Amino acid sequence: MLIGKPQDVLSSEITSQDLYRDRRRFIAALGGFIGSAFIPQSSKVNGSGANLGPIQPSPLSTQETATSLSNATRYNNFYEFGLDKEDPAIQAWRLKTRPWTINISGECLKPQTLGIEELLKIAPLEERIYRMRCVEGWSMVIPWVGFPIKALLDRVQPKSTARYIGFFSKADPKAMPGLDNPVLDWPYLEGLRLDEAQHPLAILAVGMYGQILPNQNGAPIRLVVPWKYGFKGGKSIVEIRLLRDQPWTSWSKATPDEYGFYANVNPNVDHPRWSQRNELRIGEMARRKTLLFNGYADQVGSMYTQMDLTRNF
Ligand code: MTE
Repeated sequence: MLIGKPQDVLSSEITSQDLYRDRRRFIAALGGFIGSAFIPQSSKVNGSGANLGPIQPSPLSTQETATSLSNATRYNNFYEFGLDKEDPAIQAWRLKTRPWTINISGECLKPQTLGIEELLKIAPLEERIYRMRCVEGWSMVIPWVGFPIKALLDRVQPKSTARYIGFFSKADPKAMPGLDNPVLDWPYLEGLRLDEAQHPLAILAVGMYGQILPNQNGAPIRLVVPWKYGFKGGKSIVEIRLLRDQPWTSWSKATPDEYGFYANVNPNVDHPRWSQRNELRIGEMARRKTLLFNGYADQVGSMYTQMDLTRNF
């Protein structure tokens, strides 16, 4: 993402859409996928096929057609497993996602370490079908399964001094060949302002398409913030730190002129090397206009009214 201009999406990536109308059809598709060569061990490691239990539909979901499962799981950014879009699907099986814990510390009254089983019970799991926009100029619609970050924050009780949150991804050199590449400062770190993290649209995802997350999409738990560019969505989170000050996130540290802390989707603020006015929805032929805050302006715009979005990009 950082290294070149946005890659043109190959026509081979634009496959026909699996319509997300019939859940059983999708689950059947996922079963077939898990059996494929792309994530050969995740079925053992994740206990895939294990389902997440009851999942409630959410009124916050878009009605738009979901991206095909195949595109969502084979066209990924997860630099810990390599820089090419296909690398995560090929390499990410190496990551062991059980047992897994998240340590939550910093400016909170009840710091704690929670296992993935406890995290799955923080709040009822919901399906959130969200538009996702990558800073590179492509977009997808993903049916995530997760819970609001706020539910977890309520558990640890932020102090009045907590203004920002840092989300640290796993950095395991044995499982992640990409860590040898100093393209980013590892571990991958992303951050939000506290009010952003508490917004009802901001979730921690533990699944997609009705099943547990595939490794290449950030198993066992990842950040999803649909009004921001995709790089804000740190994958395979192991630590959450409540902070007084704005953290230096991995991308903003690597190239501060190109990737800001806020990273709100904004067609009016170009990336220094390319326009952000439109996007290619994976699975479609024609580009479509990019919407302010990725189409979530009514819900999130009030958090930024006092800010100059060209400076706070
Ligand atoms: N998280 C980690 N740990 N490492 C990464 O390289 N890439 C980010 C984000 N989260 C990345 C990450 C980028 S650039 C994008 S666009 C999204 O993950 C892609 O998520 P997806 O592969 O599920 O579409």
